[in-house]
This record gives sequence, C-alpha cells and structure tokens, in this order.
Amino acid sequence: MSKNKSSIKTKKAKLIINNHTYEFPIYNSTEGESVIDISKLHSLAKIFTYDPGFTSTASCESKITYIDGDKGILRYRGFDIEDLANKSDFIEVVNLLIYGDLPNKEQLKKYKELITRHTLLHEQIINFFQGFRRDAHPMAMMVGVMGALSSFYQDSLDIGDAHQRQEATRRIVAKSSTIGAMAYKYSIGQSFISPKNNLSFSENFLHMCFSNTAEEYKVSPVLAKAMDTIFILHADHEQNASTSTVRLAGSSGANPFACIAAGVSSLWGPAHGGANQAALEMLEEIGSSKNINKYIRKAKNKNDPFKLMGFGHRVYKNYDPRAKILKKISRKVLKHVGVKNDPILKLATDLEKVALRDKYFIEKKLYPNVDFYSGIILRAIGFPPEMFTVIFAIARTAGWTAQWTEMIEDPIQKIGRPRQLYTGEKFMVYGKNRSKKNTK
Ligand code: ACO
Repeated sequence: MSKNKSSIKTKKAKLIINNHTYEFPIYNSTEGESVIDISKLHSLAKIFTYDPGFTSTASCESKITYIDGDKGILRYRGFDIEDLANKSDFIEVVNLLIYGDLPNKEQLKKYKELITRHTLLHEQIINFFQGFRRDAHPMAMMVGVMGALSSFYQDSLDIGDAHQRQEATRRIVAKSSTIGAMAYKYSIGQSFISPKNNLSFSENFLHMCFSNTAEEYKVSPVLAKAMDTIFILHADHEQNASTSTVRLAGSSGANPFACIAAGVSSLWGPAHGGANQAALEMLEEIGSSKNINKYIRKAKNKNDPFKLMGFGHRVYKNYDPRAKILKKISRKVLKHVGVKNDPILKLATDLEKVALRDKYFIEKKLYPNVDFYSGIILRAIGFPPEMFTVIFAIARTAGWTAQWTEMIEDPIQKIGRPRQLYTGEKFMVYGKNRSKKNTK
C-alpha cells in the first residue's frame, strides 16, 4: 500500500500451502471489512487466488463511497445518502464525489457554471445519431455517442495532466445529459432540443426531453426535484460492475470518454442498471396482485430463469436505502401528476410485502433494490422504460469520473490484469489432434 493511504496495518494473515507458511499483511478500513494484501502471493508461492464474480476481492483502495450492506447504509465521502437526497442537489454531489468535500457557495456557483457551459454538443455529433436506427435502444446510442466523444476533444487527451482530467470529467457529466435527451428525441422522431443555461441540471434534462420545437415544456419543481433526487441516488455505488469496468478500461491509460462508454455498456445489462427497465416490465407482466403468488413461485424455482427484478443485491443484505427514499418519492410524484391509485405502485407494494414475508427471500436476504421503485417515478414523469437505464447512466457519470480520477491519481495504480484457472487442453499437435466436438 502506498504511503498516503489511511489504512492501518495491524495483523497478519497466515496461509499454509504444502506445509509452508506464508504471511500477508491485513489492512483495516476506516469502516467496514479489512483486507488481506495478497499482491505478493504469486511471487512467493506460485499460486493464484480464485474468486469468480469477485465476491471476496477488493480490487482497489477508495475514499469515495461507503456501503454497509447489512445495515443498509450508503454514504458518499462520509455523507449519508438520505441527507444528501434531502439537502443537496446533483451537481453539488458530483463536486463532492470528484473533489472529496462539499464546495462552499462560491465554488459551487462556479462549478455549476462550468458544467452548464459544457452541455452543448459539437454539431458533428448529430451525424452519429443519423447512423442509428430509430428503433435502436437509447442505451445503444448512449454507448456509441459517448465512445465517439473520444474523437472530439484534442485539448484534453493527456490524462497525466490534472487540469485536462478535470476538463474531461466536466464534459462527461455535462454532455451525458444532452446525449441521453438526444437519444430519446431520436427514438421518438423529434428534433433535438438545445440545452438552456438558465435551468438547473435536472430541469434542463427534462426540458431537453420534453420540450419540442412547437411547445416549451414547463418544468414542474416537484418533478425537477424528483429527477434530481434520482440522479443523486444513482451517482455512485463503489466498485460495482460498471465502475469496475471503467477502472479496468482506464487502467491501460485509455481515453476517458472511451472508458465511460465501456461503463455504459456494463450498466446496460439486466443484472445491473438494466434492472430498472426490467422491473417495470415485470410489474406490467404480472399485471395484478392476484398473480403475485404465481410469480413468487417462478422466482423461487431453480429451473425457471425468472427472477424478481429490482430485488436482491450483491452488497445489500437489508433494504437498499435508495429504494426507501424512492418509495416515498413515488407517492409524491404520482399525487403531483394526478394519479390517485396507481395500479403499478399498488402491485409493487403488494409484491414487496409478499416477498419480504416469504422464507426464500428472508433466508437469502433479498430486499427491494434501487431499481424496484425508480421506474414507477420515471414513468410518472413521462419516460418510456427504455430511457430508465439511460437516466441511470447519466447519474453514474458522476461516480465513474470520480472513481476514474481516483484511480489515475493513485500512485500504486497499475494496469488491471486478473489471472485464471486454466482447465483447457494440454499441448496439442496441429494436424494430429482434430476435435470431435467441432462437428456436434
Ligand atoms: N429473485 C429470485 N432469486 C434471487 C434474486 C431475485 N431477484 N436475486 C438473487 N436470488 C437468489 C439467487 O438465485 C441465489 O440463489 P441460490 O443461492 O439458491 O443459488 C441467491 O439468491 C443469491 O443470489 P446471487 O445471484 O448469487 O447473488 P449475486 O450477488 O450474484 O447477484 C443480483 C445479485 C445480480 C443483483 C441478483 O440479486 C439479481 O439478479 N437480482 C435481479 C436483478 C436486479 O434487480 N439487479 C439490480 C441490482 S442493483 C443495481 O445494479 C443497480
């Protein structure tokens, strides 16, 4: 571990292999589990560790986000997620995640101006959109256009320069909302709407999505606050699949926009960010509370691929604190848009009740996660399910850029390069050994 790390070495772990004892340092975290530093294991013992899915592996040291999965705690830079959701706004949270502490009034004002002034996209970007099919998933456009941005900013290609790195992070956060809104507009066949500098980040995103060339969208403060809270709650979540993807891509020194495009790709899957779309579609498929038991049985059946989407989490073995906040907001938003008794919200709360009383879900500690209620709010705001993961991606650019910056600035950062347990063929002679499997 490098000298500037806050971790304190206390104990040692002993590993006995073939009667030989090896010792490895244990580092304590400021909160949460300690880690055994096995970085010297291979050079000492010529053996690797095996941990599919990294269920027991810390891939890096980080000071950004802390999760206590048993207690259902989530903190950004030490600040509780509920506190931030109630008192802060998304751009302040971006600043907190990237720079490490809360900005003062003047710093925040300046940072907001900087983000606002980066929301415009180069006119050439429109050409990229023209190449997509209209029925393409907006996440496909998000991946493609985010990656394409790596060809635009020749003034910030040096990731070894702190100023250029910061410029790249601001561009990524600011432009992601414009790209997301454009992907939506393109998919519904409407003209792109330019960002407006007098609006907040969340108001501006709603404006770019819902204004059209014939009519200005009047942004409601209730919906703008709900949108902003959704962005805050999705901003970071320590070393999840997409963040680890960004770090791994970035560890080779790749262009930051390309790294973020890799993160967007990873987020898209239904086991990760794609679960918000899948959760709403699942609720629509279940249709009514009278079908809940049938679907709970399907979720418990090992021979059925069906899973309760928006339920379960690698880290949370308790209620996801983000889901708690979203459940409350969903009621507020539905009331605001004039939906009195939303059948989908009723179905979701009934499903949650049944699952939380079921032995299978209790024993496996499966609780609603962030994706269970977010779709209900986004649908009430007016978004189609295909846009839910795009909105998640826009928010997560905050965490991805903060984690990417932390990685680049880490003095012990190296290229990420996991090893494997090889179980393939031994030496084969070309021309002598022909596969029989190949013809099956
Ligand atoms: N429905 C039914 N059973 C489930 C569910 C679920 N939603 N989630 C987990 N389980 C079961 C698994 O089948 C497994 O059973 P087993 O021990 O008998 O094999 C056990 O609970 C443990 O689950 P794993 O999948 O091994 O846990 P893992 O940490 O690998 O996966 C994950 C976590 C991917 C989130 C999983 O719970 C899941 O697929 N949930 C549904 C998709 C979802 O909501 N994803 C969003 C996660 S939050 C986010 O990324 C923003």
